[in-house]
Amino acid sequence: MMAVPMVGRAPALDELRRAWSRVHDRGEPITAVVTGAPGTGKSALVSALVRAVAPVRLLGGTARVHSPAPYDWLAAVLAGRDTSGLDVPQDALSWLKQDPDVPRERYTPDALLRIAVATVRQLVGGRPAVLVVDDLHALDPASLNLVAELAATDLPALLLVTSQPPEAAVSPQLTARTLQRLAGRPGAVRRHLGALRPAEVGEILEHVYGSGSATAELVASVWRRTDGNPYRLTELLAVEGAGGLEALRGGDADLTAREREVLGLLAEGMPNKQIARVLGISVRTVTVHVSNLLRKTGAASRTEAVLWALHRGPAAAARTPPG
Ligand SMILES: Nc1ncnc2c1ncn2[C@@H]1O[C@H](COP(=O)(O)OP(=O)(O)OP(=O)(O)O)[C@@H](O)[C@H]1O
Ligand SMILES: [Mg+2]
Repeated sequence: MMAVPMVGRAPALDELRRAWSRVHDRGEPITAVVTGAPGTGKSALVSALVRAVAPVRLLGGTARVHSPAPYDWLAAVLAGRDTSGLDVPQDALSWLKQDPDVPRERYTPDALLRIAVATVRQLVGGRPAVLVVDDLHALDPASLNLVAELAATDLPALLLVTSQPPEAAVSPQLTARTLQRLAGRPGAVRRHLGALRPAEVGEILEHVYGSGSATAELVASVWRRTDGNPYRLTELLAVEGAGGLEALRGGDADLTAREREVLGLLAEGMPNKQIARVLGISVRTVTVHVSNLLRKTGAASRTEAVLWALHRGPAAAARTPPG
């Protein structure tokens, strides 16, 4: 499948580029906070910025999502880097690199934090840099402290932080507080990435399948099925859309056997009450099945779901065996 073009984020990218110019031209320290639900394109936006300002001094790292350890972000930054020339205690540095053989007792948490800041300062070396903290919500408390501390320094750097909402975080309260502190820095850039709009989803479909190919109805259906989430859209295109645009209309929506049965009865024009009687289940359960299958097929109404099933052929909607 053709690569999906980036849509809808030009204003955010422009704002980040302007922030970078201030760092680059005037040596201002600037913090930028990009938030959004999973898959809204935070990392994609960061990559786009890095590409736009390349070549650039870049320090970046992400957390190991499943078991964040102290100073995960810095350990990622330091991984594979020659640090022998840095003017910080080498044993502390080894600890910050998460070398398993180094005991930490020699340094207090405060001392480690100061050493961590000094390490980043030396890596930046007084020249304009981009510090990328992707997925702040997945970081350990020590890293969160470090990031907040870095935001308060005078480093000539764009500190570019992305995060899912704090509720999803490893340490929700600390993450919320850190995000507040970061966003409250003077001159900070704040961007919340929401869902793509239908027109933007349409733009992607046109790019992938050719201009004029996507009808408004198909765009609306794809938008509903993905909630305009770029990740879900990309997945949908890769999995179901590989066979062409028409395949998107009739993707196997992963209906359960029961949902197929309900769909079959809808296609016969039955109201929920009658479907409940035929299947021997409660009306409430029928409404749950109906709402699930509307969501899965991307249909806005029962009629649309039936049309979807007709388009799909007999496999989509199961007929209940007589009896
Ligand atoms: N604006 C966009 N236009 C088109 N595709 C996009 C856009 N933003 C993101 N994508 C695509 O959607 C997918 C998810 O994006 P990305 O990984 O950047 O999301 P994220 O917000 O970083 O998610 P997470 O919170 O899980 O890290 C990627 O394949 C990316 O290329
Ligand atoms: Mg990401």
